[in-house]
Amino acid sequence: MILVTGGAGFIGANFVLDWLAGGGEPVLNLDALTYAGNLETLASVDGDPAHRFVHGDICDRALLERLLAEHRPRAIVHFAAESHVDRSIHGPGAFVRTNVEGTFTLLEAARAYWSALPQGEREAFRFLHVSTDEVYGSLGPDDPAFTETKTYEPNSPYSASKAASDHLVRAWHHTYGLPVLTTNCSNNYGPFQFPEKLIPLMIVNALAGKPLPVYGDGLNVRDWLYVGDHCSAIRTVLAHGRVGETYNVGGWNEITNLDIVHSLCALLDELRPDAAGSHARLITHVTDRPGHDRRYAIDARKIEHELGWKPAQTFATGIRKTVQWYLDNPRWVANVQSGAYRDWVARNYAAREAGR
Ligand code: NAD
Ligand code: DAU
Repeated sequence: MILVTGGAGFIGANFVLDWLAGGGEPVLNLDALTYAGNLETLASVDGDPAHRFVHGDICDRALLERLLAEHRPRAIVHFAAESHVDRSIHGPGAFVRTNVEGTFTLLEAARAYWSALPQGEREAFRFLHVSTDEVYGSLGPDDPAFTETKTYEPNSPYSASKAASDHLVRAWHHTYGLPVLTTNCSNNYGPFQFPEKLIPLMIVNALAGKPLPVYGDGLNVRDWLYVGDHCSAIRTVLAHGRVGETYNVGGWNEITNLDIVHSLCALLDELRPDAAGSHARLITHVTDRPGHDRRYAIDARKIEHELGWKPAQTFATGIRKTVQWYLDNPRWVANVQSGAYRDWVARNYAAREAGR
């Protein structure tokens, strides 16, 4: 059995679904079901005896102790986090609570559990911490891509809280010997992503004929990775990663935001043409994100050379699958666009001026 935290969110749920599709080992899935957690995403494994869902908070030490004692997992894969940069600008407190305090609480519960295990289980136990490339800061146009030894220079409340959690994980290994692994991944996209993030937001807005709000000049660069490839990287690191090491995970796909939005419009023009004209007519430049990082790029050679992992999808194949998934799942999309979603859209976009 493995314990997954945040397994009702975008990446965590994709990981749980892929893991269970691989057969075999059961998953205990702990998730607080914040706005970003969605049991509908896990509907296909509802009733699967290999999937046990627990509604709870990683800050709840007593709950963590009880779950670890009852289920005796051989590993913890830690996804649970507040994950959206714009939300961290509007309300950083939740990010410090879940990402820093929650990771601390989970590490402490894991340490107590792990140190009482019999020797063989102690040696086999792993704590895999899922982190982000944003902890490394922003790159200039000609800077080399982030390697695992790049200094940490987080710029947003989100990335600062993730950096803090990475440091805690590192310290729990160096001080207490907890067998940790850390992955720092680039921007993910794919099925079940909440439409607050760039790619799903642009797809749902385009389908609704709404403006496509590009922050600033739209020339910020991200390195995009299909979520299924991120999940396979995590499985690889869990199985074969060297304890105490960090592994950068990326798709070798550096693309500007404007190019992302244009490719989405082109795909939608092909798959769901709009009589009013190309979806690109909806592109609107709006006021930039404060402190907006200009460029991220991942050097993923370590995980490739040491562990033999490579992404299976190119951006062209992954983005087509993703657009098709959103076209095929209008009910999932409609259900997540609840009142709370509408409040967020009003809060984040109403204050942004168009034409900036
Ligand atoms: P998400 O926001 O879609 O999901 C987060 C999940 O965590 C939700 O199900 C939420 O209910 C749960 N959660 C939040 N607070 C919790 C708490 N206190 N206790 C228990 N559960 C809680 O996030 P995501 O995009 O799936 O990201 C998952 C992880 O991967 C995060 O740690 C994030 O930092 C990291 N990451 C994300 C990306 C990306 O592009 N999305 C890239 C690299 C790394
Ligand atoms: O790099 C990994 C990170 O990628 C993860 O750690 C985060 O959890 C994840 O949210 C993501 O962060 P970004 O800030 O890069 O993702 P987001 O989808 O919010 O934005 C991607 C880019 O698109 C960014 O440059 C901001 C821009 N953007 C975003 C939105 C929501 C827009 O131009 N308009 C928008 O409406």
